[in-house]
Amino acid sequence: MSPGEKLDPLPDTFILQPPVFHPVVPYVTTIFGGLRAGKMVQLQGVVPLDARRFQVDFQCGCSLHPRPDIAIHFNPRFHTTKPHVICNTLQGGHWQAEARWPHLALQRGASFLILFLFGNEEMKVSVNGLHFLHYRYRLPLSRVDTLGIYGDILVTAVGFLNINPFLLKSPRLEVPCSRALPRGLWPGQVIIVRGLVLPEPKDFTLRLRDEAAHVPVTLRASFADRTLAWVSRWGGKKLIPAPFLFYPQRFFEVLLLCQEGGLKLALNGQGLGATSLGPQALERLRELHISGSIQLYCVHY
Ligand code: GAL
Repeated sequence: MSPGEKLDPLPDTFILQPPVFHPVVPYVTTIFGGLRAGKMVQLQGVVPLDARRFQVDFQCGCSLHPRPDIAIHFNPRFHTTKPHVICNTLQGGHWQAEARWPHLALQRGASFLILFLFGNEEMKVSVNGLHFLHYRYRLPLSRVDTLGIYGDILVTAVGFLNINPFLLKSPRLEVPCSRALPRGLWPGQVIIVRGLVLPEPKDFTLRLRDEAAHVPVTLRASFADRTLAWVSRWGGKKLIPAPFLFYPQRFFEVLLLCQEGGLKLALNGQGLGATSLGPQALERLRELHISGSIQLYCVHY
């Protein structure tokens, strides 16, 4: 097998396009394949303490002039005495009738998880796990190909998912999950593990076993003390000095980049240093083993 060849032939059926972590707002991105019923957009973020408003627009294109139609404009407003959400549609440069929802479940200074679920006739929105609103389409969903996020919001992650839960039932992604590395690993190779942390998680462990069934390296996230650490073959623990980035019911992406004599780690797109392995340790590895309180969406290497 040559470097770069994929061992895992399964398409990434749940994640439709790679999640984006910490994008700078205003953030505009293409929705691969356009929006259609059965898709879901997951937005994780924080409302700044001084937020006035932000908006999430599902747009028909991204031209600046003329302004694109906005099939769905989701616009939380915090600066009024009664914070609320407005949804609306912009067509031909004109806003249509506003729909308004009081009792905004988002708060200044608080983090949130918003799910936009696209059905055949309407979009449903849940905030922090609770249904919040539904909005009937006024323009065909098939025209939407762009997501725009603007205003007073700190975005930690945006995910593009398939709603269909049976796609999650792939036995190859059941946890604990093992993948053979028949030829070991080599410098330049990348392992990507994406998933969702379960509610009330305990730990998450990623082990690399060698041909003698030793585990020269383990990456362990422990939710009890909120630490991430490399654990050596002899059980020695080396804490990774970084904020703990795993949260219940939130996405994560672990990326391991193999390099001469070790592995570099990035979590949710942030580099978190490296761990060294003995000489030839990479090529002797034979198995990747993932366990813990997570649901896996993809394992690529
Ligand atoms: C307008 C506002 C727009 C948009 C629209 C929605 O008053 O300027 O940004 O939020 O309402 O109806």
